[in-house]
Amino acid sequence: MEEGKIPKHIAIIMDGNGRWAKKQGLARGYGHREGMKPVRRAVEFCRNKGISCLTVFAFSTENWKRPASEVNIIMGILREYLYSETPELNANGVKVRFIGDISVLPQECREAIYYSEKITEKNDSLTLNIACNYGGRADILRAVKTLAAKAVQGDIEPEELTEDDVSAELYTSGCPDPDMIIRTGAEKRISNFLIWQGAYSELYFTDKLWPDITEDDLEEAVQWYSERQRRYGGLK
Ligand code: IPE
Ligand code: IPE
Ligand code: MG
Repeated sequence: MEEGKIPKHIAIIMDGNGRWAKKQGLARGYGHREGMKPVRRAVEFCRNKGISCLTVFAFSTENWKRPASEVNIIMGILREYLYSETPELNANGVKVRFIGDISVLPQECREAIYYSEKITEKNDSLTLNIACNYGGRADILRAVKTLAAKAVQGDIEPEELTEDDVSAELYTSGCPDPDMIIRTGAEKRISNFLIWQGAYSELYFTDKLWPDITEDDLEEAVQWYSERQRRYGGLK
């Protein structure tokens, strides 16, 4: 595969955990638990490929609509993932960064997040963005509020605002826009994920459920990506 054909930033909508569990005759929580394994595989995959940024959608601003029992299970698994994986992520030079409004998450979760972000903050081999209580619209709204406040303060001139100014206020600032967004679990929608940043992302959909995703599946996705011709509205 040509060097330039490898994405710099892959984003993943990790969907299908509940259906995976149902297929095994298990409660949905087991699917979320099993879903930690492919996150590990995806991190390994990106490190091996030299991909500098991986963003995974763990919990959306809309997922609060689910029963509290399921939300609690997901939060517990997130916490468990951070405590069990951070030492190895750190040893491998992975920087963990949360995107989304974590201020409203349960205290034990926030503690685990601060622990993981703090320990790994100086790492630079791979940035792992974990999107939790993340929504693309909320992300943009937050940027708009920050910019509006700066304008009111007289620090910026509204007329002079650029797209880069907006990008710089988004949670993902510092990472290039995702080259490819992968969605597992058969649905073909974006579900409010990276809607600004994904304007020109290549979209890859697979019917496979997230817990079943292997490194070979990711290899296949990146292979598919390498065959795309990105035109950004121009001509070849
Ligand atoms: C994705 O799996 C994980 C989260 C949204 C937290 P789902 O829980 O949406 O699984 P399905 O789509 O119901 O199978
Ligand atoms: C998207 O999956 C959110 C995450 C993977 C965290 P959902 O299962 O919430 O999406 P919809 O409801 O099918 O659009
Ligand atoms: Mg789903």
